[in-house]
Amino acid sequence: MALKQIDHGTIEYQQMVKLRYEILRQPLGLSFTTDELDREKEDILIGAFDEDEMLACCMLTKTGHTSVRLRQMAVQNNLQGKGIGGSMMNFAEILARDKGYKKLIMHARETAVGFMKNWVIKLWAINLLK
Ligand SMILES: CC(C)(COP(=O)(O)OP(=O)(O)OC[C@H]1O[C@@H](n2cnc3c(N)ncnc32)[C@H](O)[C@@H]1OP(=O)(O)O)[C@@H](O)C(=O)NCCC(=O)NCCS
Repeated sequence: MALKQIDHGTIEYQQMVKLRYEILRQPLGLSFTTDELDREKEDILIGAFDEDEMLACCMLTKTGHTSVRLRQMAVQNNLQGKGIGGSMMNFAEILARDKGYKKLIMHARETAVGFMKNWVIKLWAINLLK
């Protein structure tokens, strides 16, 4: 699996919108507006790939001088629970640090709160051991 930053408007970005629609929006009967997708030009877009296939994605949206919000995290349904989301969180955190951000904000829907908490606790434990 390869983790990388992707560009808005590319084929990879189209794959990302499709994945987010299938995993996050369609189950709630929601879709994306053109404005919403346009605003993502400013975001840091991240994808996990197996060759050309997008397995998972997330993005970082700037919320202040030194803060970003991690959002729109989605892993293909049949690949959830295999460590992909966790790896992507690690990648996103390193990317945010590299770009000079000091604070990572996360909001989670009820079903993903356990996952987010699990990741924060691991990160805290790793930093404690450093
Ligand atoms: C939530 C989601 C991103 C997690 O990604 P994932 O690849 O399934 O998660 P991982 O397999 O990387 O799990 C990482 C760790 O979190 C734990 N975890 C995962 N989901 C959990 C949950 N709901 N509660 C508690 N722990 C959880 C795993 O057990 C694993 O722990 P371990 O490393 O100690 O074994 C993914 O399941 C998903 O796309 N869900 C549907 C969309 C969604 O809810 N997105 C988030 C919107 S806020």
